[in-house]
Amino acid sequence: MSGPTVLAFETSCDETAVAVVQGTEILSNVLSSQVGLHARFGGVVPEVAARAHVESIRALTHKALADASVHPDDLDGVAATQGPGLIGALLVGFSYAKAMAWARQLPFIAIDHMEGHLFAPVLDDPTFAPPAVVVLASGGHSQIVLMRAWGEYEVLGQTIDDAAGEAFDKLARFMGLGYPGGPAIDDASEGGDPAAFEFPRALPDRRYDLSFSGLKTSVITFIRKHEAAGTLPPLADVAASLQEAIVDAIVIRTMNAVEDHGVTRIGAGGGVLANRRLRERLREEASTRGIDLYLPSPVLCTDNGAMIGAAGAYWLERGMYSDWSSQVDVNLKLGR
Ligand code: KG4
Ligand code: ZN
Repeated sequence: MSGPTVLAFETSCDETAVAVVQGTEILSNVLSSQVGLHARFGGVVPEVAARAHVESIRALTHKALADASVHPDDLDGVAATQGPGLIGALLVGFSYAKAMAWARQLPFIAIDHMEGHLFAPVLDDPTFAPPAVVVLASGGHSQIVLMRAWGEYEVLGQTIDDAAGEAFDKLARFMGLGYPGGPAIDDASEGGDPAAFEFPRALPDRRYDLSFSGLKTSVITFIRKHEAAGTLPPLADVAASLQEAIVDAIVIRTMNAVEDHGVTRIGAGGGVLANRRLRERLREEASTRGIDLYLPSPVLCTDNGAMIGAAGAYWLERGMYSDWSSQVDVNLKLGR
């Protein structure tokens, strides 16, 4: 093991996540999910999220340090997500981390949440490095990123409307499958035929951009029509077919980026990358093309503290850290 020992916080949305890493090695990675709190609202309620972060962050910090058998005196730095995310939620982790760093006079490293996702693959496999194409798909984002070097990122394309996870969540809600919708549709698609129904793949002439709102309307219209006629097909077939449309869109854009930029590595991150069908399709396509696919384990695809820690440790090792006046930025954009 090598690299700085960093305590890291991620509170951009609905998970309070704290980790201790040493370089790319995870010493502890703990999390308190708020899914149960938000489920009855069918989505994340920002004020509820911020309050829950406040309630759990202290105990989680103690647990992360205890699990890692690391004393605060042994830390080399403290990292936290700066944005993008929900302002109240971000402020909890960011302020807590900065205060802790200040009190111990440790370097404080503010990390872009999306850059955190770019670092996630190194936690499973430290050989992951740019140049690479990284596909990021979560409840808030869907992007195809070209990583020329660490810190040099170009967003090649992104969704022009809903994020992929948002599409899963909205459709699952409409179908009465509960929240969060991605895992619900993933489960409901089990045994279903992905080719049973041909739902639209939007923007066929765009190499990297994505769009999911047309698909959402098409699936809702399809279900309403069949419900009214009393001819609703098996749920598994509908779920597998709509999932295939989302997966197809993501896989095609990823492979376009790989071909156009001649990279030999693909990284991935974001909650949607926990989707079993997406993982299977990416593996197939990468293997056909002889591309190395770095697909983090599902717990490292969804929001976590370790990915923020890995990014923090990388920059700290190069002497780069943030000013005490740094603030959260809900509009932080990768590559700017
Ligand atoms: O990265 P993440 O944990 O949080 C952010 O949005 O930043 O991603 C959460 C999203 C949700 O929209 C959820 O429905 C989706 O990831 N998701 C999935 C799966 N697991 C989580 N989508 C499809 N299939 C899954 N198995
Ligand atoms: Zn995320």
